Amino acid sequence: MTPRVPVAVFASGGGTNLQALLDRESPNGAYRIALVVSDREGAGALRRAEAAGRDALVVRAVDRRQQEVGDETLRHLGRWNVHVIALAGYLRLVPSPVVAAYRGRMLNIHPALLPSFGGKGMYGERVHRAVLASGVKVTGATVHHVDEGYDTGTIVAQWPVPVFPADDVARVAARVLRVEHRLYPAVLDHLCRAVAEGGDPEPFVLSPGDFRSTYTAEDPR
Ligand code: GRF
Repeated sequence: MTPRVPVAVFASGGGTNLQALLDRESPNGAYRIALVVSDREGAGALRRAEAAGRDALVVRAVDRRQQEVGDETLRHLGRWNVHVIALAGYLRLVPSPVVAAYRGRMLNIHPALLPSFGGKGMYGERVHRAVLASGVKVTGATVHHVDEGYDTGTIVAQWPVPVFPADDVARVAARVLRVEHRLYPAVLDHLCRAVAEGGDPEPFVLSPGDFRSTYTAEDPR
């Protein structure tokens, strides 16, 4: 069996995506979450890491130079032998030395169909509010590689989610989040399998079974 790839998850918030990655981790899978990094002492993600028995630490970013934050982050990543990074609700721009060191091995998940409804300041409820205001009938989740910009890296996978006429922000957010929790572990596993084998990943393809869903306007789950 190929050894699982050590992954660091970066999270600023509650960490439900971190939880999904932990829950879907398996001995036959390609990844193992070795470290959780947050920029906030109070992040729920830190509690989840602790509850799962994983190492977790805070790298403060406020009032610090990017270079300093980057150096500290790289030191931790080296110490935990991290090969792949998964951003999961991490609200900071990752310092460029970290992006450079992990190019092609750092993913992010965004709660809309990029390149629409992305960019600086587009996070949390703001994304879903903009989706509703625009009148689009389809939103979704996107997993993409991380580059130096906000939500600009190459798209790896997308999963469409309907927007129903009676929707509000909470309903759309919940529907998209449920899809995120299924999509992210699958894409992370796919990338880590390629990293473990030392090759470039094939394009990620969702199987038709993965797409099956039971959304209706009356039962919007
Ligand atoms: C998710 O919607 C994710 O797409 C975005 O931030 C949110 C994080 O939620 N990047 P959680 O902390 O994983 O619950």
